[in-house]
Amino acid sequence: MDEVKLSLFGFGNVGRAVARVLLEKEKLFRERYGVGFKVVSIADTSGTVWLPEGIDLREALLVKETFGKLSSWTNDYEVYSFTPEEAVREIDADIVIDVTNDRNAHEWHLAALREGKAVVTSNKPPLASHYAELTEEAKRREIPYLFEATVMAGTPVIGLLRENLLGDTVERIEAVLNATTTFILSRMEMGLDFEEALRQAQRLGIAERDPSGDVLGIDAGYKATILHCVAFGPVTFDDARVKGIAEVTAGEVRRARAKGKTLRLVATVEKGRVAVEPKELPLESPLAVSNNENVAVIWTDLLGELVIKGAGAGLKETASGVVSDIVRASLRKA
Ligand code: HSE
Repeated sequence: MDEVKLSLFGFGNVGRAVARVLLEKEKLFRERYGVGFKVVSIADTSGTVWLPEGIDLREALLVKETFGKLSSWTNDYEVYSFTPEEAVREIDADIVIDVTNDRNAHEWHLAALREGKAVVTSNKPPLASHYAELTEEAKRREIPYLFEATVMAGTPVIGLLRENLLGDTVERIEAVLNATTTFILSRMEMGLDFEEALRQAQRLGIAERDPSGDVLGIDAGYKATILHCVAFGPVTFDDARVKGIAEVTAGEVRRARAKGKTLRLVATVEKGRVAVEPKELPLESPLAVSNNENVAVIWTDLLGELVIKGAGAGLKETASGVVSDIVRASLRKA
């Protein structure tokens, strides 16, 4: 069996969660899909470890967790200081995996596609700004460009829109796409203050390292933009109207509750319109999710109302989406 060569960019929490799943499920991938994976390079901000024979993921995880950076591994491996563009050109790989927060990653995603490499990404800004360019390049070259984990982590809303509902016309989507704001608002309903709720979300690995994008609605705006691109055609984040929860007060949260309602950060996506804002919802609304859940309510001409709900953040939950795409890209390339 040929091994599929993976080049991993990003070895933070999500990157390591992906590495753990690849390790733990190696046998399952071979048995279920006849696919073996070999990670030939891993890049973090300290450099790129590259070994064409395949990197020992157990050791890589140990080094990163002990020293905090891959460049401490110099005894066994050479560490290169490639730019991502250089890395995607130099390193022989079948699939480039982007689990970084690099806002300019569209440049090296395009470089990877031009090199004939499939791309799997959980990184949202490149898609929210360059969806048309990226997906057209992939289509022209017939190479997988997969991004399930950018929206609702591993809960397969992108797959649902891209690979199912092929005869339906989507009319409208309403969704709660940011787990951090849901977590904060639900903790505020229990009497916790905003700052403490945010700290808890950070401790659980739900909030971004810089949580301002969560709180200001930018993260939800990126995701809603991506949903628009998939369901209705390309737009960019600049077209989105975004208001976050920074101005929501404990009083507003309590008053909504007293009326039997709950406040959530809701995205509305219709052809030509992407909007994100806090809304009061009846408690029985499908959008009234809690903890790290996300939900999308999708209306189509044939199906009527369809609800997809599940984890929208978390490490193994995000790894679920990334690894599904890695398997999918491998099977298409086979
Ligand atoms: N910070 C994001 C959230 C993580 O809270 O939903 C998943 O993209």
